[in-house]
Amino acid sequence: MRRSGTPITMLTAYDFPTARALDSHGVDIALVGDSLAQVCLGLPSTTRLTLDEMLHHTRAVARGAVHPLIVADMPFGSYHASSDDAVRSAVRMVQDGHVEAVKLEGGPEIAPTVRRISQVGVPVMAHVGLMPQRHTALSGYRVQGRDAVGARAVLDGALALQEVGAFSVVLEAIPHRLAEYITARLSIPTIGIGAGPGTSGQVLVWDDVMSRWHGKKPKFVRRFVDVGSEERRGVQSYVGAVRDGSFPNAEVEGYEMDGGEWENFLEQMGDSGWRSTADRVRER
Ligand code: KIV
Repeated sequence: MRRSGTPITMLTAYDFPTARALDSHGVDIALVGDSLAQVCLGLPSTTRLTLDEMLHHTRAVARGAVHPLIVADMPFGSYHASSDDAVRSAVRMVQDGHVEAVKLEGGPEIAPTVRRISQVGVPVMAHVGLMPQRHTALSGYRVQGRDAVGARAVLDGALALQEVGAFSVVLEAIPHRLAEYITARLSIPTIGIGAGPGTSGQVLVWDDVMSRWHGKKPKFVRRFVDVGSEERRGVQSYVGAVRDGSFPNAEVEGYEMDGGEWENFLEQMGDSGWRSTADRVRER
């Protein structure tokens, strides 16, 4: 796709129905992002997500996403202790989590790890620029590479990870000129988020695209539809209808019983005169 200049589409998915939607509507890559921590599990940051929690969700996504490539974030702490440890975690992601590729945040310092994981046959997507797993060290979720030194560091990270076998790289929250420059300098595809239009593809978080996330909206997010409002309308209408008795409607949404069998039942119960609400309405 990169060679032919076809923009690559990637969206996050954390469960089976979302994976089905990505599969049905032509998304190229399903990313089980560790943003799962915040948007699905209500955790304060991605650093709280465990490998076991991640695997529970990757399996669900793998059941629903047949056509898209399934990539998942290696959770914080699952690839840092040693390269052996990282390979073990990556193998678990494939064997227990049914993913096809893993994504790791970091620069040249994780090159040996990316090399080892790639060498055992697990494709690695790198992630440079803003790295949410390091939000504390980076003093928050800040745009990266805004000065010449920072820009050089992001480029060097991407080049180093390509060199050791990464098949693609996510560029998060960096100036658009820098992202285009890095894309031109690399031979592997870049997937941008907050990195402008000059990358080989784009990724967004499902809940941002659908307007289901009501936390702070980063500048780079575009809300493509307003599922959040529809959801609110649906829940409020349901609560209203249950409270005012209009849901469920016995005739439309209920099950009937053969009249004779019903009379037979009431007779056995010694309650032949008993009338249901639906009977009383009908007799009025
Ligand atoms: O976890 C995530 O959602 C990500 C982004 C790049 C989309 O890693």
